[in-house]
Amino acid sequence: MEIIVTHVNADFDSLASLVAARFLYPQAGLVFPGSCEKNVREYLETINHGLSLYSIRQIDLNGIKRVIIVDTNSSDRIEGFDSIFKSQPVIHIYDHHPGQDPKISPEVSVIKDRGATITILLDLIREKGISITPALATLFLLGIYEETGSFTFPTTTEFDLSAAAYLFSQQADLKTVNRFLAQTLSAIQLEVMADLIKSRRIHFLAHGGNVMLLKSFKDEYVSDLAVVIHKIMDMAGPQAVLAMVRMKDRTCVVGRSRVPEIDVGRILLPLGGGGHSSAAAATIKNINLKEVENKIIDSLDNRTEQSYANIKDLMEERLPYAIQELIKKTAETADQASYPCFVVGGLVRDILLGKTSFDLDIVVEGEGIDFARLLAEKVGGEVKKFAKFKTAVVTFPNGFNLDVATARTEHYPHPGALPEVKASSIREDLFRRDFTINALAIQINAAHYGDLIDFFGGREDLAKGLIRALHPDSFRDDPTRIFRVIRFKKRFGFEIEDGTESLMGKALADGMLDRITNQRIREELIQILSEGQPYLALEALQNRGILVRLHPELALSDNFGFLFHQIHDLLFHFRLIIGEEEIEPWLIYFLAMTEDMDFIHTEKFVSDLKFTRRQKNKILTARKRSRQIVELLTTSPEDLTPASIYRELQLVSTEALILVLARISLLPDKNLSEEAKKRVATYLVHLNRMKVMISGEDLKQMGLPPGPDYTQIMEAIFFARLDGKVLTKADELDYVKTYFR
Ligand code: CTP
Repeated sequence: MEIIVTHVNADFDSLASLVAARFLYPQAGLVFPGSCEKNVREYLETINHGLSLYSIRQIDLNGIKRVIIVDTNSSDRIEGFDSIFKSQPVIHIYDHHPGQDPKISPEVSVIKDRGATITILLDLIREKGISITPALATLFLLGIYEETGSFTFPTTTEFDLSAAAYLFSQQADLKTVNRFLAQTLSAIQLEVMADLIKSRRIHFLAHGGNVMLLKSFKDEYVSDLAVVIHKIMDMAGPQAVLAMVRMKDRTCVVGRSRVPEIDVGRILLPLGGGGHSSAAAATIKNINLKEVENKIIDSLDNRTEQSYANIKDLMEERLPYAIQELIKKTAETADQASYPCFVVGGLVRDILLGKTSFDLDIVVEGEGIDFARLLAEKVGGEVKKFAKFKTAVVTFPNGFNLDVATARTEHYPHPGALPEVKASSIREDLFRRDFTINALAIQINAAHYGDLIDFFGGREDLAKGLIRALHPDSFRDDPTRIFRVIRFKKRFGFEIEDGTESLMGKALADGMLDRITNQRIREELIQILSEGQPYLALEALQNRGILVRLHPELALSDNFGFLFHQIHDLLFHFRLIIGEEEIEPWLIYFLAMTEDMDFIHTEKFVSDLKFTRRQKNKILTARKRSRQIVELLTTSPEDLTPASIYRELQLVSTEALILVLARISLLPDKNLSEEAKKRVATYLVHLNRMKVMISGEDLKQMGLPPGPDYTQIMEAIFFARLDGKVLTKADELDYVKTYFR
């Protein structure tokens, strides 16, 4: 025997699904739970439905071979679950709620993203070519209406609308639906609604925000279009909607906006329409739907007609003077060549965040390489061209580099590959970028100086502290963005928007990391390790299982947080005393990060990542020598001469020394670490900078025959100097006379 069951407190969707499932399982008995919604009870009591519904008590529960569960997949919601499932029947599930109850292991599970379960079952019935009576069509329609809140709930899909339209064609009785529910749409309105939703696309506006564009084509007149548009607005939640419906010889356009920045009245003005900024309409004759759409897009894109942010003052306030000058020169060149020209990327983001930024990226709508040549002529700089990418770097006489790109779209031949580039507009150029906060631009041509170009809501996301991918393929196009999202999150203390989080999760699950070349992984790692507080991002990489994917032995040690803090403090100290340029901070953090890996693995990891020979040398030497250096720096002063310190320390890089000091500072004896720090400082500031004053010429004049001995003599003088035995040039000459003649 087999039965069909549904959840307790049955509603119209569960009742409709129960009845519909019977068409797929004609032998099954319908088990209706004791409890149901009030309107469902009224329906069952007042309508002559002719359904045979059983309660669980009326069923012989022994020997149930198969149970079909509809409109739920949770065992907790099924009345008498334990007794029904005692005989371990085969289970089939039909539902629109996501998730999976671990207590149930169904043989068939049809769970789809639909507003109502009946939509799923109706599709299956229709596939079988089964027709339904008007009474059943009415019940099914009740299910859809109720479960989608008359198509206003965000869960509503175009499939629910199509299903409802079909039910109308099967003579579903709207009066009955109305009797049990309020607020219904007519069949033609539903059809239009389904078409409109299917056609939807989002149009991004230059000054921020977006408009949903919808269209439909009908042979007959559709009344009360506005009601349909309202429902779509409630359901989809866009900032504004412009819907175009072609009816016979005319196109009706209805506009609705929730935000003052998008003035639909003004947008429809060029189409002969009118209304308020939040609600407007137009009727257009004699041109086809496509032409109407083009006119609307023209009107939306007409930047001069709209108000948008200008951030000229912020630029003056927040950009270093040298960058402002550079921008002015660039803008002059652009104006002379009549190229629209924009500052893009991180600098725009940082201006809005109130941070100083020195990375100037320029995009021109035109030939970037030609533009770079003109600019270089103007400022007397040099151009390096990358024809394949249509980009160029202009090096200014003061050594400053400016990246110039052609506004471009990129096509990625396969995930992780370098893009193929073709010229396009600034909007497309921005759209290919990673996150909304990085897809902002500022126009710099004199007539538009300071205009913020924000097609994708980047400014709003900056204000909300959200990192949001621009489009669903972002991580597939460029999986290095997985590293970037984590880097920016930690740098700015932002959150990753939910959709972006799941796109990233999917990219990781799909093995996108494996598509990134080792060189690009190295560059991303270096960037992360160059952040102010890299341990936050590293920890996030570890927690997401990314570090171990880079190398199976790569794991942060337990106290790496302390270690990284120590490095951070020491870096501050040593940069003050020896200067910025001499230290590469990322290298210290790299050494710290790989501390727990054995030498062989480190060597392989470093080779795989294709570090330069110099970097590789620094890393591996540090690994080989750090233990001896810790010992040396922590031995008592009597045993150490400056020369003996020098001999050992000069074998490793400054970065390695800072790591060693960080390690020592984690030891309980604070005096020890202070002493070690002094020794390293003395080495870096004095010993390492000492030079012998006499030259080979002096030795020759003293009558010493030139040859390999000279090196030995010079070395001996140098060590004597380190130990303070010689101070002047005369001392050095005496030293040679005493020991080498
Ligand atoms: N970009 C991207 N995808 C990448 C790398 C870069 O879309 N994988 C785009 C972003 O628009 C970014 C710009 O190129 O803003 C410049 O990249 P980059 O200089 O690497 O980053 P910034 O955003 O400037 O960040 P940072 O402050 O770390 O330099």
